[in-house]
Amino acid sequence: MELIDGKKISAEIKQEIALEVQKMKDSGAKVPHLAAVLVGHDGGSETYVAHKVKACELIGFKSTLIRYEDDVTEEELLKTVDKLNNDDDIDGFIVQLPLPKHISEEKIIEAIDPGKDVDGFHPVNVGKMSVGLPAFVSATPAGIVELIKRYNIETSGKHCVVIGRSNIVGRPVSILLSQKADFGDATVTVCHSRTKNLKEHCLSADIIIAALGMPGFLKGDMVKEGAVVIDVGTTRLKSDKTKSGFKLHGDVDFDEVSPKCSYITPVPGGVGPMTIVSLLMNTLKAAKNRN
Ligand code: GUN
Repeated sequence: MELIDGKKISAEIKQEIALEVQKMKDSGAKVPHLAAVLVGHDGGSETYVAHKVKACELIGFKSTLIRYEDDVTEEELLKTVDKLNNDDDIDGFIVQLPLPKHISEEKIIEAIDPGKDVDGFHPVNVGKMSVGLPAFVSATPAGIVELIKRYNIETSGKHCVVIGRSNIVGRPVSILLSQKADFGDATVTVCHSRTKNLKEHCLSADIIIAALGMPGFLKGDMVKEGAVVIDVGTTRLKSDKTKSGFKLHGDVDFDEVSPKCSYITPVPGGVGPMTIVSLLMNTLKAAKNRN
């Protein structure tokens, strides 16, 4: 069993991006500028956005954080999106989700200029990605693809089971894995809460992507010998054993599953660090497209 080290790969990619930023600076070009909009004080969102801003600083990007309280109106947020769309200094921006219930996430996402949508959530980007056109691919699926590529894991002709059909992970990653391209060509089964015989599907999988958000869901008896397992779960549960008071739990029962795998991602340190790097890669791409 080999551990897929997302921390190491993400550090390598950050180094690669930092070199590109240095070249941009040396040639007198503007450095990429990412803005993040954060509404409210959700612990998870605060942590993710803080990591994104810090990662920008470390690799030499400019970053701007715009904060609102929970009671911000949809109209105000739409105005901010419009401002960011029209701000020439901003190359890309994200609105951290989830948003408070009185704000339509769809409306906000659809208001973002697809050329600045470095989260890859806008339907234009999702549509382009689906038909194989150049697009911003959302961070987690893009990170999973990058990990699989950098570990030279073959996907062509393989049976891949994706557990979860979310717009952010399950659905896009299933499209990317099945596409006719340099990466992909897998036979993909998308499983979800209504799937019958989930265990049988998993047992026939060469690659399993667990993205359902249920800690420890995938057990040892659901995985065949030699499978590749990618754990996308990031459930934060309270813990008195960590400094932060929280512990991250993946969707895979690591102790049971890992001895059967050829490759497996740990949680933390697998897919997680790759999502931020994908966002940075998208922002670099946005900046290049705009220059
Ligand atoms: N909430 C959880 N993951 C994400 C993400 O990748 N982008 C945004 N904007 N919100 C999120």
